Amino acid sequence: MAGSVMVPSVSIGLALSVLIFFALSLKTLEARGTFGRLAGQPPQRTAAGGICASSVHIFGYKCEEHDVVTQDGYILNMQRIPEGRTGAVAGDWGKRQPVLIQHGILVDGMSWLLNPADQNLPLILADQGFDVWMGNTRGTRFSRRHKYLNPSQRAFWNWTWDELVSYDLPAMFDHIHGLTGQKIHYLGHSLGTLIGFASFSEKGLVDQVRSAGMLSPVAYLSHMTTVIGDIAAKTFLAEATAILGWPEFNPKSGLVGDFIKAICLKAGIDCYDLVSVITGKNCCLNASTIDLFLANEPQSTSTKNMIHLAQTVRDKELRKYNYGSSDRNIKHYGQAIPPAYNISAIPHELPLFFSYGGLDSLADVKDVEFLLDQFKYHDIDKMNVQFVKDYAHADFIMGVTAKDVVYNQVATFFKRQA
Ligand SMILES: *[C@@H]1O[C@H](CO)[C@@H](O)[C@H](O)[C@H]1NC(C)=O
Ligand SMILES: *[C@@H]1O[C@H](CO)[C@@H](O)[C@H](O)[C@H]1NC(C)=O
Ligand SMILES: *[C@@H]1O[C@H](CO)[C@@H](O)[C@H](O)[C@H]1NC(C)=O
Repeated sequence: MAGSVMVPSVSIGLALSVLIFFALSLKTLEARGTFGRLAGQPPQRTAAGGICASSVHIFGYKCEEHDVVTQDGYILNMQRIPEGRTGAVAGDWGKRQPVLIQHGILVDGMSWLLNPADQNLPLILADQGFDVWMGNTRGTRFSRRHKYLNPSQRAFWNWTWDELVSYDLPAMFDHIHGLTGQKIHYLGHSLGTLIGFASFSEKGLVDQVRSAGMLSPVAYLSHMTTVIGDIAAKTFLAEATAILGWPEFNPKSGLVGDFIKAICLKAGIDCYDLVSVITGKNCCLNASTIDLFLANEPQSTSTKNMIHLAQTVRDKELRKYNYGSSDRNIKHYGQAIPPAYNISAIPHELPLFFSYGGLDSLADVKDVEFLLDQFKYHDIDKMNVQFVKDYAHADFIMGVTAKDVVYNQVATFFKRQA
């Protein structure tokens, strides 16, 4: 295939996927053009000195940096906010219960700390008496380390969310469990929910998990069938071999702005409409927060992971990474079709809290309803489902109203599972 033919369609796939996985407000796109920050703005807080120093200590909270090593050698950075400013204690015997907060794709833990202190989920949970931990999955800026490999090597990026399930989550859980001796409340957003569901379905961490809160829950992506989502997934799959030549999927690689323009041209869609069509229209983002978001995110993931997600869109079910042929799948899994994750196998007594948005086009309402349907045999009094009509994907991590609308409900749910 000639480069001039291949590159634009690859570009479109990349750009579309970037667009798909995080939410820019319409205003942002309009005012700045794609990913540019507003010209002439004062320098923004970045996490140069680490997430604790830049984004937790500044609000007057204690914070510890931790490193954990996965069984396959990745060194992951975590933050711990051991207590709040109020001295509140959740649960019995004055013991603070640990919560692990797990971000979604193309961002890292700092995405939870971009608003003023009283609006940020980790600080709110700390103030309500929890021992708060934040994960940063492999490939994100503080977790680009490995015992033997480095990010310039192809082998460093040889993973998908299957490995987040088999290695990253267990390493983080073991570390927290080892230090606190307690079961953990899990809180995921977007891809953070998907890896939680997959893990609990394999019963890997169920002895260590106390309950799980799932915001913008994602497990099935088949209704993300906007023209755009569809094109992105197809392009990714069609170009899988070519784009695996770029093992690191780095949305900040400068070319993204051009990619987005290319999509708009090729798809014949007005960029203005494009964004609202893809991400959903977030109701409640603060312009300063979006600016801070753009100064700190997005983060890299592996191209293989993006292909796996595209397979999830195409296949309408949750399976391990498909190597593309029966022979190769047999070699890796001993079967022609990759093994499925069975959501219904999540233990029926695990307390669950779901919150999903009416305007979220990534965690599409139809897909979430299909997901909820997989829990029809779950203990009814362990299921808590919240629907927020005017929320889209990013409102759950950055919305200025999220404390009142979602986070206080999450804290109340966790406290009830003591
Ligand atoms: C938006 O963020 C800025 C900067 O953190 C803050 O001063 C302002 O109060 C926020 N606005 C709202 C509505 O929360
Ligand atoms: C990636 O990992 C698979 C096994 O999961 C292995 O077969 C393959 O050789 C690896 N590729 C690279 C480039 O490390
Ligand atoms: C999924 O798990 C449920 C509950 O354990 C079980 O009844 C069902 O047969 C499983 N489905 C598959 C396809 O294995």
